[in-house]
Amino acid sequence: MPVVARTGASMRAVSRTFVMCKPDAVERGLVGEIIRRIEQKGLSLVAVELRSVDTALAEAHYAEHADKPFFGELVAFLTRSPVVAMAVDGPGEDTWQIARLLIGATKVTEALPGTIRGDLATTTNENLVHGSDSDESARRELELWFPGLPTA
Ligand code: RTP
Ligand code: MG
Repeated sequence: MPVVARTGASMRAVSRTFVMCKPDAVERGLVGEIIRRIEQKGLSLVAVELRSVDTALAEAHYAEHADKPFFGELVAFLTRSPVVAMAVDGPGEDTWQIARLLIGATKVTEALPGTIRGDLATTTNENLVHGSDSDESARRELELWFPGLPTA
């Protein structure tokens, strides 16, 4: 049974993005650390859900990568064990960009210390966190993971 919490934002939000603790983050007990960093930055959680991901949701989430050689591995990883999906608000129009800065670069060799991936991940495949990479992605992913929740 998934645990879902939806709260009112603690600040007047201007933009909303989608962030997810991937299976490796939940398995390693790093969800609290990841949420701590998001909140300490000054962003606000408005929806949090621990849930198992089926193949259809994983494929829809990563649809942009459907033709990549690593797509099968990506879907297998996301469906391996539960994730923590989050809707995150910020006071400016750039919440997705701030979240991506906190998360760090995709490649393990480029993720700088101080970022979640730079501090806590040792591989590119299992890099702990997902963050939407544009306003359009944020809208699409929020609708996919939190249907009915306003996207902004
Ligand atoms: P995410 O979508 O998970 O937030 O990651 P991202 O934007 O930083 O990177 P993206 O290009 O969207 O890739 C999605 C995930 O696929 C894996 N990946 N593997 N083998 C490879 O060259 C490769 N490139 C990407 C990573 O786990 C990445 O997070
Ligand atoms: Mg991406």
